[in-house]
Amino acid sequence: MADTFKLDLIQRPRRLRRTASLRALTEETVLRPANFIAPLFVVEGRGAPQPIASMPGVSRLNLNDLVKECRALAKLGIPAIALFPKLDAKLKNEEGTMALHEDGLILRAVRAVKKAVPELTVVTDIALDPYTTHGHDGVLNATGTDVENDRTVAILAKMSVLHARAGVDLVAPSDMMDGRVIAIRKTLDAAGFSETGIMAYSAKFASAYYGPFRDAVGSAQAAGTRLLGKATYQLNPANRRAAVIEAIIDVAEGADIVMIKPAGPYLDIIRDVRVAVKKPVAAYQVSGEYAQIHAAAKLGWLDLARCRHESLLAIKRAGADIILTYFAREMAAELR
Ligand code: PBG
Repeated sequence: MADTFKLDLIQRPRRLRRTASLRALTEETVLRPANFIAPLFVVEGRGAPQPIASMPGVSRLNLNDLVKECRALAKLGIPAIALFPKLDAKLKNEEGTMALHEDGLILRAVRAVKKAVPELTVVTDIALDPYTTHGHDGVLNATGTDVENDRTVAILAKMSVLHARAGVDLVAPSDMMDGRVIAIRKTLDAAGFSETGIMAYSAKFASAYYGPFRDAVGSAQAAGTRLLGKATYQLNPANRRAAVIEAIIDVAEGADIVMIKPAGPYLDIIRDVRVAVKKPVAAYQVSGEYAQIHAAAKLGWLDLARCRHESLLAIKRAGADIILTYFAREMAAELR
């Protein structure tokens, strides 16, 4: 008899999951277009968009197409973009000197976007990897065995001023050198850019999930390997406490926003940092996370739209206020 199996329960959590309206009432985390920053790749010339094979739906854009894309993103309610340049190989050298060129591609891109869509927040990466032949984020020491911290920081501080002058709202040092946030803050202030903010890649791990991005900016090819080792400056993926220390240091040095990267495989770090600091927390759902979902969907093994949504929801639930994601445009369209 069915009655025999009637449990005498006080707690029945399923009561709140019974109907769609009860489920809506009790939903804890909600994604909105305003949560997202769209990363975009820009390239010289007037050519057609250059698709990136390992990142379906993502292309390198010329300046005109970039501006068009920015208008579309703003219309969808995306508040911000993060810009990455792909340089011609012949413009790269050991020292990454094009990073300090007054009229470099990234600066022209920033000016074009700020002119056409001034309300859009523009973020730029502060690191040397798109500019160096070796693909490292900084300049090498005399023996060529490691990235030299202090000399790199001096270059990044100068680079930040050029970006601020071009109209960037937030500079985003992604190099993981020690002391770069305070050096950038002081240099920006001294140059009259106290309004320019710093979104620090604070807990950036030495991850294998950056492979497709390195195809996109060409930092992989130049180095001859997609898995260039950055372990002397990026964090050890095994370390939780070290990541929290980095975030605390960056806030103390003047970071306005701290970032964790990658995002999906590092949800524990997002939560730890959320608890440890009071500044806004950003997380970067990186190229490899995006590629994974696309690859499985292409094989018919996962549902693209649902995994896209769930992956981003998990990142927000873990504690991220802001998410950098290549899904930004599609998500904003879906959420409307
Ligand atoms: C480099 C940089 C990287 C990414 C953003 N800035 C790659 C790296 O550290 O090699 C990765 C982003 C992604 O994988 O989507 N300064």
